Amino acid sequence: MESSIHEISCLELFPKIPEGTVTTVITSPPYNIGKSYESRTSLTEYLAWQQEVIAECYRVLKRDGSVFWQVGNYVSKGEIWPLDMLLYPIFKEHGFKLRNRIVWHFQHGLHSSRRFSGRYEVLLWFTKSDDYYFDLDAVRVPQMWPGKRAYKGPRKGQLTCNVLGKNPSDVWEITNVKYNHPEKTAHPCQFPEALVKRALLATTRPGDLVLDPFAGSGTTLAVAKKLGRRSIGAEINPEYVEIARRRIEEVSPAVLHAPTAT
Ligand SMILES: C[S@@+](CC[C@H](N)C(=O)[O-])C[C@H]1O[C@@H](n2cnc3c(N)ncnc32)[C@H](O)[C@@H]1O
Repeated sequence: MESSIHEISCLELFPKIPEGTVTTVITSPPYNIGKSYESRTSLTEYLAWQQEVIAECYRVLKRDGSVFWQVGNYVSKGEIWPLDMLLYPIFKEHGFKLRNRIVWHFQHGLHSSRRFSGRYEVLLWFTKSDDYYFDLDAVRVPQMWPGKRAYKGPRKGQLTCNVLGKNPSDVWEITNVKYNHPEKTAHPCQFPEALVKRALLATTRPGDLVLDPFAGSGTTLAVAKKLGRRSIGAEINPEYVEIARRRIEEVSPAVLHAPTAT
């Protein structure tokens, strides 16, 4: 399945993507907090730039398509500005509809001494229309009591819960990629594969096109390939582009047939 990473700014990549061709955009943009891969600008400038990217995402999305925008906080002099709150009105202005504000909870991170240590970030899931594709069965998780049966009433003796598993909810407990995590590359903020996998299984079909405008180490593109989806991504840092290329190449066709864990 075709996966491509382009060493250009996402705003240069968008004109190459025809309108209404992408099924899911999943990305984590720079947070404008002075990480090694970003130059810090004013919050106003940052939001104006994000607005341009969001407008392009709307244009390239199919009518039944989705966007997952993963963000944390902008921090200035110890004060935090939740980026999802600042970005929500921009998505809304463009016609996007919010389906979930997913809390991605993890155990590791910086230890704060003047506020509680941050242990979650947010994944805003928007759709372009009300006719969006969503396959809940593809992402169900095991029930707490899978064999539970009704003990009285007309359904006595019958299973009371969905045998395929339960809805994974809007709180995603997924280990972040730090220290000795097996997926760790030289990128400081990469997605865990399990997070991308759940989003793509729920919102795309095999062969659909996935876009990551801030592709970093290429997690989205590698996972898309593992799942038999096509993908395209932009990344401006040549070191990360190289990592992404290697990760995409390392996905062998055999992975497509192997059992997959979340
Ligand atoms: C939070 S990281 C994304 C990490 C990615 N999710 C992964 O799994 O590795 C954001 C990335 O956006 C890249 N970036 C910054 N400005 C960009 C732009 N204008 N176009 C494309 N990529 C950009 C940065 O170099 C950085 O690698």
